[in-house]
Amino acid sequence: MSIKKIIAFGSAKGGVGKSSITASIALSLSKHKRVGILDADIYGPNQNILFNISSKNKITNNLIQPAEVKNIKVISMGNILNYDEAAIWRGPMLSGAIKKLIHKSNWGKLDYLLIDMPPGTGDPYLTIFKELDVNEFILISTPNGLAISDSQKTISLLKKLNVNILGYIHNNIFNNNDFNMDFFNINDIKHLGTYIFDKNLHNFNCEYYSKVSNQISKIILSDV
Ligand SMILES: Nc1ncnc2c1ncn2[C@@H]1O[C@H](COP(=O)(O)OP(=O)(O)OP(=O)(O)O)[C@@H](O)[C@H]1O
Ligand SMILES: [Mg+2]
Repeated sequence: MSIKKIIAFGSAKGGVGKSSITASIALSLSKHKRVGILDADIYGPNQNILFNISSKNKITNNLIQPAEVKNIKVISMGNILNYDEAAIWRGPMLSGAIKKLIHKSNWGKLDYLLIDMPPGTGDPYLTIFKELDVNEFILISTPNGLAISDSQKTISLLKKLNVNILGYIHNNIFNNNDFNMDFFNINDIKHLGTYIFDKNLHNFNCEYYSKVSNQISKIILSDV
């Protein structure tokens, strides 16, 4: 197994578009590169739903075989257990489950592994950054005070963990132009792109290549 670059997409805030944007950027990147997605949201997996994967993963030689959609290798707890079973997992099992998804998945050769981070800044962050050499973090924020305040928390944690921040994505889901995103400029965090309300993201469409995702994937490809 060899993975050239690992990029995590996150925000402590829930519901800001982490999963949809990770999936959309994976589609754009996969036109040029070998891409995998690790859905690190153990309690609320979503990549299985976005990519419409209903089958359970096969285990071969003690390794979980990722599902493959549009040439993207996807590992999500949603394809390992039934959702109801996953929801009752306890704290200590959480980091164990993430470790298993990381080390026991047959990623093969990948150019990019994208990690769809869960909300919050708890154990999953510590486990992922301990177990994996994450090259870049991309912050996602909607334009409002709560999302910005949670971005601040995420930035503090990333600094403590010495994780490089490639930049931020402004997800203007509700087309709210009254709020300025100066917070990121003040903190020297580069703007990578802005999404507005997009019905193909809202009802995720695997055949759709978002222009914004294409542009952000170019930035990712040029970052060596
Ligand atoms: N630009 C957009 N246009 C339209 N809908 C969007 C956009 N971005 C996100 N959404 C919608 O917002 C909701 C939250 O998105 P998503 O689940 O990707 O966020 P998340 O940050 O991964 O959430 P969670 O913290 O629960 O994991 C979804 O219903 C999604 O379809
Ligand atoms: Mg999500």
